Amino acid sequence: MRLSEQNASFEFRPNPAGLQNCQPVSAVACGKTIIVGEHAVVYGAKAVAMPLTNLAMGVSLTPLPTRQSPVFKAMIGGRNVSDHVLGVIEDAFRVLKIRPFSLELEGSSTILVGAGLGSSASLCVVVLKAIAASVGRTLAPYELAKYGNELEKRFHGNPSGLDTAVVAYEEVVSFIKGENPVPIKVSQPTGAAKWWFAIIDSCTRSSTISMIKVAEPWFTNGDIAAKIQKFNIASEQVISGLADGDANLVKLGMQTSGDLLKQAGVVSQQLQELIDGASQAGCLAAKTTGAGGGGCVLALLDPTHPQEQLAALKDIVGASKVTAVTLP
Ligand code: PMV
Repeated sequence: MRLSEQNASFEFRPNPAGLQNCQPVSAVACGKTIIVGEHAVVYGAKAVAMPLTNLAMGVSLTPLPTRQSPVFKAMIGGRNVSDHVLGVIEDAFRVLKIRPFSLELEGSSTILVGAGLGSSASLCVVVLKAIAASVGRTLAPYELAKYGNELEKRFHGNPSGLDTAVVAYEEVVSFIKGENPVPIKVSQPTGAAKWWFAIIDSCTRSSTISMIKVAEPWFTNGDIAAKIQKFNIASEQVISGLADGDANLVKLGMQTSGDLLKQAGVVSQQLQELIDGASQAGCLAAKTTGAGGGGCVLALLDPTHPQEQLAALKDIVGASKVTAVTLP
């Protein structure tokens, strides 16, 4: 079941402002983790990402009477948001071609900020969902992905679109910049009911824009086509592995892309220690996820005995840093 269905988003509440054309609504959007292809996707490679439905940002939107120019108020987690975030609301009205009305937005989030888990994509998607729902519109996932990426430009200049795609679809997607996301088939892994991953938090935060600058020289020098081709092969391995239940293929794809990201310079010493810890715990593969520099490591667990590996991983890196994630 989709996160938005579980949380009964777009639930209509009485309209205290007595406005005719917009209603109070609530909406929710999930987090995400990139399995393979971050950074390379900026240069045209195929990437694969999965939703994190145990992490979410939820907002309640209340329309306010609009006199001359619209006024936006927003609080997330009980704190007033920056003008930057208020700009997302303004942008949402613009891309949706909805006449701006005054509103109050109150939200909360369990998605860590600056950790590569989709906090900015989730904010963009949830604001779009709420504003559209308030005027009775439901956006298709491809629209949410496209408009969400427009809004994400406020956060990282020229995003590939991968983050908002997976948050909008709430499914594992493969993605090539400039094309519509493609939801991919996920079968049970051989010998087990589910895929198990662990997100390991380095507890250091980084900015996507600055990490894109760090990686850029590697991606734009030498045999660029060969590098992109290696990422594409890794993505195809992950896609086939998930579809066929072949954990070995997913492992190979993650390992290759992790090694390439190391060459691109986005794996800090701290992230490398977590990757080494995951390998010591017997995880099948571990790589940085998202922009790197800080943020998180994504580890693939052996689906036939995930609990042992999770316990070992928690022992090695510290239990508070580890969050288990399953698919489907
Ligand atoms: O913001 P993050 O950490 O989820 O990274 C986004 C993924 C990148 O490939 C590094 C950038 C992009 O626009 O796809």
